Amino acid sequence: MDNIQEWSKIKLKILDYYLDVYRNIMKSTEEKYSVKWNYTYIDAFCGPGLHIDDDKIIDGSPLIAIKKDFFNEYIFIDTDVKKMNNLKKTIQTNIDVDLKNIEYIKMDSNRYILNNLDIRNSYKYVCFLDPYGSHLEWQVVEKLVQTENADLIIHFSIMDLRRNLENESSKERIDKFFGSTKWCGIVHTDKETLFGKQEEKITDYENNLLNHYIENIRSLTKKIFVTEKPLKLTNSKNASLYYLIFTSPKEAGLKVATQAIKKFQKEANDVPKKYKNRMDSSNMEPDNGLF
Ligand SMILES: C[S@@+](CC[C@H](N)C(=O)[O-])C[C@H]1O[C@@H](n2cnc3c(N)ncnc32)[C@H](O)[C@@H]1O
Repeated sequence: MDNIQEWSKIKLKILDYYLDVYRNIMKSTEEKYSVKWNYTYIDAFCGPGLHIDDDKIIDGSPLIAIKKDFFNEYIFIDTDVKKMNNLKKTIQTNIDVDLKNIEYIKMDSNRYILNNLDIRNSYKYVCFLDPYGSHLEWQVVEKLVQTENADLIIHFSIMDLRRNLENESSKERIDKFFGSTKWCGIVHTDKETLFGKQEEKITDYENNLLNHYIENIRSLTKKIFVTEKPLKLTNSKNASLYYLIFTSPKEAGLKVATQAIKKFQKEANDVPKKYKNRMDSSNMEPDNGLF
């Protein structure tokens, strides 16, 4: 189990809240129109299911979803076999759920979603796409959004991009994340100098990358709503770590997301303050790990 950081706790709180509101809206829509849908929750980078929070154990994203007692089926994916085994054991021993409705997939979620996942029209999907860095491939987002049947929560890791944009060995991964090489033109510009044209980094490239990604999502289909202002998570030193981007084929889905962001953005902004207070009282450097 990993020691959870403040920003990750907020990520889990927002997921918890979002799923509650999503469930309530879907139930009342079903009642209103006398319809019944099936629901699948996909957690594509699911982790071990439990995290350590100081002296407590708290639920990770798969357990938060399963405890809503709402989805008809769950697909949990992680490359880490040990984490998957722990998750399976925790669910089998602690949760009252029909185990045949849960799939545990131990492989790269990009490959699984692209090659093995059959999307059924009669189902509605909520997909939590929460890797450590920019490991979610664009083609996956494209496939899920184009079903027009899936609500997505996407972890957009600006920290990973900031660290690796100039790194030749990361270029292929970042190309796959954005689905093209166009991001390069958003980060750099050619400037005329006394010595001829020189490449320069654009000052606001982080916002530009985020907007480029959001615009690309919007261009995938007409039936898509994307949060104008994603939730921004920062670390103890007030450096931006990642954004949570919400997408939905329905306007009501966007409302759920906007409500959730509104509720948690202030708490997310206060993360550095929380660490500062903790340091003031303990005189310790906070752990700056990404999780
Ligand atoms: C940020 S953690 C997930 C935390 C979890 N969503 C939670 O909030 O409780 C990211 C997880 O992605 C897994 N992972 C990394 N690369 C992956 C990949 N290509 N496919 C599937 N899982 C991957 C890691 O093993 C790790 O458990």
